[in-house]
Amino acid sequence: MDNHNWRYPTVQKRWERAPWQQQQTPPLSLTLAELAQYNGKKGMPAYIAVDGVIYDVTMEAAWAAASHFSLRAGQDLSGPYRACHRGQGILARLKVVGQLR
Ligand code: HEM
Repeated sequence: MDNHNWRYPTVQKRWERAPWQQQQTPPLSLTLAELAQYNGKKGMPAYIAVDGVIYDVTMEAAWAAASHFSLRAGQDLSGPYRACHRGQGILARLKVVGQLR
């Protein structure tokens, strides 16, 4: 009589990515020249590379307008990252989109 198979829709947990953030895209493999196109301009996302790994900073408040303390997206920022954020674990929070080729 009673159907016990139904469930309440699961509640979005704070630590889970929202459904529209879950789409899996294949990892990119970009040269530095290709990375330069991901500069947050003309609808392009804003990517930065640190130690060969490419991260998405498009939605980072601290990287609004694809720039951050005069740094620009679309570049390898390994040096500036080490100089300013070494040991802060910031990169672990960013979405990895690929690697430098
Ligand atoms: C010139 C070197 C840099 C300086 C002086 C600097 C400074 C800062 C400061 C002061 C904040 C805190 C901003 C806030 O609370 O709103 C911040 C946040 C952040 N920075 Fe940098 N930064 C530098 C380089 C970089 C680089 C190279 C990256 C990425 C590769 C980076 C990624 C981030 C991210 C993702 C945040 C947000 C952290 C959070 O919300 O917890 N920064 N930075």
